[in-house]
Amino acid sequence: MSEFSWKSDDPDRYDIEFVIPMVHRLRFTRDCFGDDFAVVANLLERSNSQPARVQVWLDEGLISSNGELPNLIEAALESQHDDIEQVGPIYTLPGGEEVKNSPGFVNEVLDAINRGNLDRRSYVMVVGGGAVLDMVGYAAAVAHRGVRLIRFPTTTLAQGDSGVGVKNAVNWFGKKNWKGTFATPWAVINDQRLL
Ligand SMILES: NC(=O)c1ccc[n+]([C@@H]2O[C@H](COP(=O)([O-])OP(=O)(O)OC[C@H]3O[C@@H](n4cnc5c(N)ncnc54)[C@H](O)[C@@H]3O)[C@@H](O)[C@H]2O)c1
Repeated sequence: MSEFSWKSDDPDRYDIEFVIPMVHRLRFTRDCFGDDFAVVANLLERSNSQPARVQVWLDEGLISSNGELPNLIEAALESQHDDIEQVGPIYTLPGGEEVKNSPGFVNEVLDAINRGNLDRRSYVMVVGGGAVLDMVGYAAAVAHRGVRLIRFPTTTLAQGDSGVGVKNAVNWFGKKNWKGTFATPWAVINDQRLL
């Protein structure tokens, strides 16, 4: 819901101020895909009485240090299958700046969002460092003008900075963060175990 304020002494000219209330949901967990998964599940609203539709993107840097993570995420989602539908597999992306440099990665995320028929009430979960969060966040923000994004930052920088803010971006024309949006994520989970 928006608040509008119409001010004009001139019927041909209106300066319309408006405020859009936003909620920034920040949660701190110790094991968000294990014992604390209820914290994540409670953020996912059903849509038209159907399970919440969720697509997951994972930074490959995490898999090299925790090969079990994709299985843990799938098992956690499956444990709530009456309320949560995982759309597609666990998608993976290279970590670090390279993922923000190539338009191919943004297109890959947009393509999967399209093929999965995600809509504005669906969720994109992204688990990774600031670079992967920025790129997937950008794709989620422009798809349908905003699919709900849940960030799981996995570096200390991202848990203190990029992950908890409202910016996202990719590098374009060889310039850092040239293309991006301000888009409040649906939620941010700062999890101890993912660090
Ligand atoms: N949106 C914002 O507000 C904002 C603010 C600050 C920085 N940023 C962006 O954040 C990016 C930097 O993010 P970063 O410092 O988190 O690093 P990063 O995303 O570049 O990741 C660095 C490396 O760490 C790996 N990695 C991630 N989590 C890991 C884990 N738990 N264990 C092992 N390896 C792991 C990644 O795969 C990658 O190889 C930059 O692109 C910067 O522009 C954005």
